[in-house]
Amino acid sequence: MDSSARNPFGWSRRRCLALGLGAAAAPGLAAAAASESSLASLARAKGLRFGSAVGAGRAGSLTGTFDDPRYRQLLAAECGALVPENELKWYVLRPDAATFAFERADRIAAFAREHALALRGHCLLWHHPRWFPAWLNSHDFGSQPAAAAEKLLVDHITTVCGRYPQIDSWDVVNETIDADTGVLRETVLSKAMGQRVLDVAFHAARAAAPKARLVYNDYMGWDAADANHRAGVLRLLEGFKARGVPVDALGVQSHIGAAPEGGAGAGFGQPKETAWRAFLDQVTGMGYDLLITEFDINDKGLPGDIAVRDRAVADYGRAYLDLMLSYPQLKEVMAWGLVDKYSWLRNLSPRPDGLAKRPTLYDDDYQAKPLREAVATALRAAPARG
Ligand code: XIL
Repeated sequence: MDSSARNPFGWSRRRCLALGLGAAAAPGLAAAAASESSLASLARAKGLRFGSAVGAGRAGSLTGTFDDPRYRQLLAAECGALVPENELKWYVLRPDAATFAFERADRIAAFAREHALALRGHCLLWHHPRWFPAWLNSHDFGSQPAAAAEKLLVDHITTVCGRYPQIDSWDVVNETIDADTGVLRETVLSKAMGQRVLDVAFHAARAAAPKARLVYNDYMGWDAADANHRAGVLRLLEGFKARGVPVDALGVQSHIGAAPEGGAGAGFGQPKETAWRAFLDQVTGMGYDLLITEFDINDKGLPGDIAVRDRAVADYGRAYLDLMLSYPQLKEVMAWGLVDKYSWLRNLSPRPDGLAKRPTLYDDDYQAKPLREAVATALRAAPARG
């Protein structure tokens, strides 16, 4: 018997069970269930991929947003790809120099496989001491530090890529440019083996994941204050090209903020858009593809009124996505979470009025917000890529 009539979305009992739901799916979710109107489908129709980050918890914990069945249901309904939010980072994966703690990433990888979702990897080397595990920051590399550091790094990359052959797009190096100065960050690894640590990471990733898209990922923006950051990223990408390092794309994190000046959600305007396009033109001119890897919108500076705020966020997101999607080199759009209450921005630098931030496509009750419609509209309007 077809049991679809037993739940509000017409989903089969099998699908509900597979998502970890009871036969009656959670109420209140406008489910697209990989339907033609899902963001995944709208993206796919243009040769793009849409997906989201999801967290299965930090080291020492096996709980995370991934444990929420309604969230899993929404991810399966809207996404064509997932990316673990923290679970592939050294500070979760590597409790010490000898151990790999794969269980949290494994859960996300298994879910992606079950639902035929692609998987992105983030990230093989977050080259920033703040994000190294403590043991690594004080690691003793012995009498031949360059060789020991290289072995540790290459073993890590080979093991992690080998564990998840389904990952077809990897942030290999993350945030290695100092945002203020534009110079390369130093870590214990670069101190031991020099800045060729970055090239080594990409070569190791290519060897371990020969078919994957290899990405340098960073958060440079378009403001005048970001000029050094942009210049540093360009220098890095030029160097990769000159040395024949296997880097396929720039990941533009896209943690953007809807600033109140010039009217809420006024979009880019001039000359910010000019500077940003000049940057993207240079990146694509070198032959790199582009990805939006961590899209969300910080509404900290916007008025408290929810309708006004959500509208401004949506308009700003639409303007941003229209610009980004005008580049045929843009291949993936990943949101950094899909539900406001699970966003990393919720508790990071709170709003002065104490109201909860609303940075994602769905509200705390899993209802689509204007930003979800703005993303859909931008995808529908996007030129198809080859
Ligand atoms: C963030 C996660 O969302 C948080 O849960 C975690 O505590 C810190 O990292 N740039 C990145 C991401 O490349 O890895 C960061 O993710 C957000 C900024």
